[in-house]
Amino acid sequence: MSNTAQITVDGNTYDLPLTEGSEQEKAIDIGAFRAQSGVITLDRGFKNTGSCESGITFLDGEKGILRYRGYPIEQLADDSTFLEVAHLLIYGELPGKDVLTNFESDISRHTLVNEDIKKILDGFPSNAHPMGVLSSLITAQTAFYPLSLEPNRSQEENDLSIIRLIAKMPTFAAWAFKKKMGHPVVYPSNKLNYCGNFLQMMFALPSEDYEVDPIVEKALDKLLILHADHEQNCSTSTVRIVGSSQASLWASISAGVNALWGPLHGGANQAVIEMLENIKADGGDTKKWMGKAKDKDDPFRLMGFGHRVYKNFDPRAKIIKKAADDVLDALGVVDPILDVAKGLEEEALSDQYFVDRKLYPNVDFYSGIIYRALGIPTEMFTVMFALGRLPGWIAQWKEMREKGEPIGRPRQVYTGANERDYVSLSKR
Ligand code: SDX
Repeated sequence: MSNTAQITVDGNTYDLPLTEGSEQEKAIDIGAFRAQSGVITLDRGFKNTGSCESGITFLDGEKGILRYRGYPIEQLADDSTFLEVAHLLIYGELPGKDVLTNFESDISRHTLVNEDIKKILDGFPSNAHPMGVLSSLITAQTAFYPLSLEPNRSQEENDLSIIRLIAKMPTFAAWAFKKKMGHPVVYPSNKLNYCGNFLQMMFALPSEDYEVDPIVEKALDKLLILHADHEQNCSTSTVRIVGSSQASLWASISAGVNALWGPLHGGANQAVIEMLENIKADGGDTKKWMGKAKDKDDPFRLMGFGHRVYKNFDPRAKIIKKAADDVLDALGVVDPILDVAKGLEEEALSDQYFVDRKLYPNVDFYSGIIYRALGIPTEMFTVMFALGRLPGWIAQWKEMREKGEPIGRPRQVYTGANERDYVSLSKR
């Protein structure tokens, strides 16, 4: 196999190096192409363009493979825990017992947030979307930890920011929910594990004792594992490009939260449930809604279906679909929209339009059904996605910085007006 590619432009041929990854993925390195040819490449939405080399997550969209640091997602979802997966993603290896215990205890000792956070919360109207509250509280941390503004300062400072972020995100998320409900916030408890603590901050009320349900706790831990990283998706690319300007980890993660919020990305899990509820309220006529999804003149899309990379089943969707059945059975929850979801999936998997475009259920299609069964309200679904994706964002930010990646600054093809002279206002 030749290790170069050739591009010919206006009769001139340029040799460009081919690079190959550890899973035999090939890429044409165009780093020197513009200097040689004066020509750039154009790839709207970066559908076919790699932004970096990364050793964190591997996915094969054709085969429906997803691995974190080489470990298959199916094994991690069944046998690992979210904090163990977080350590694996961020530091590259499965931690030994002592390392994991220290990591968990460091995190539990940083879950408390500055009381002034409540003043920021009070500034929001109760109808504020929790994603906007979450990204604001994350950015606000730069005021409480000014040393974190200098990511070049020290690894120790960055490691402390990593612990603080993972520790405080559940507190921010739960307090955003309590703000929305008009309930008093619940302080973190170091007696509980990561998911148990989050659940008690979300659902404990002054008027009654709250007991963490182990089934709910385990289901939540599995969902967070399944969302933990997904290579160079929209929000992760956002975290990397913001971090490439040497902005702080907090500012980079806050940017990632805002990118995830969009309904085409992490916001899809909320949009799926709203769609399923509309279809059910409309009489459950899945054929009618499938027709709308295929109609180019109709803006309706089948939310939770399709993926930029997976042209086969999203492996996470398979795991979540099974978990949805298991969790709802275990909790004795009957949710009629699960049947609507299964009906839609069945229709789509045999519909030529979807088959031709290789549109399968993605991670967002069934996750909302589990969140509902766990008692989490729809507007909090994307916050749950952010909670899960946090260690992946951190790992990608850390890798980008450790590799000394240059500041991200794409080129463009200009299509605007050619040079022209200014015309004074009196002559216009
Ligand atoms: C996530 O990148 C990641 O890894 C993301 C993620 C992660 O873990 O970070 O996996 C999480 O964001 C999952 C995706 C959640 N979004 C949705 O469920 C929203 C609905 N799906 C889409 O809008 C769409 O499928 C995307 C955004 C996910 C992917 O869009 P692409 O790759 O840009 O594909 P496209 O829009 O160009 O679609 C290709 C064709 C088009 O039809 P034609 O122009 O070829 O005729 O497929 C059609 C689209 O109209 N199509 C759909 C569809 N998704 C694509 N038609 C109906 N319903 C859909 N859901």
